Amino acid sequence: MRKTWFTLVGVLAFFALPASASGNADAGEVVFARCEACHVVRTPAGELLAGRAARNGPNLFAVVGRPVGAQEGFRYSSALKALAATGAVWDAEALVSFVQDPIGHVRASLGDDGARSTMAYRVQNETAARDVLAYLEKLANGS
Ligand code: HEC
Repeated sequence: MRKTWFTLVGVLAFFALPASASGNADAGEVVFARCEACHVVRTPAGELLAGRAARNGPNLFAVVGRPVGAQEGFRYSSALKALAATGAVWDAEALVSFVQDPIGHVRASLGDDGARSTMAYRVQNETAARDVLAYLEKLANGS
């Protein structure tokens, strides 16, 4: 019984670990086609790495590890500004949560049930979230 239990835990850990690491950048490029309706990925030097000309969302260049609400001149919601004021940084876990449920993420992070992010899009599941983040990281790393 004990042995079966350990085997089961081992098998679960084996499948759980890769899922909690970063996603698949190629699959993420496909997911990003949806983000392009509102976002671009543009380097500080002005080179367009992904997207076209959409400006209703902030530039997502190097967003993984970037402070929340950091694009100069972009009109963020008061919820994202409040989150930025706490010193929050977009680490992978925060992004995985935000892109699946922007309003739920700001409410939980701020402890404010009235908070609203103006991002009106959700990725379908955690895999899609991790994949799109892997794609954004790949673009930021220039590979
Ligand atoms: C319909 C338009 C729209 C789509 C589609 C969209 N977003 Fe957004 N996104 C926004 C807006 C608007 C904001 C600013 C939200 C706010 O101020 O509350 C935002 C903010 C963000 C932020 C926070 C950036 C920062 O500077 O703090 C991230 C990360 C993000 N979006 C990722 C994504 C990803 C990844 C996708 C695709 C899976 C996506 N968005 C699709 C409109 C969109």
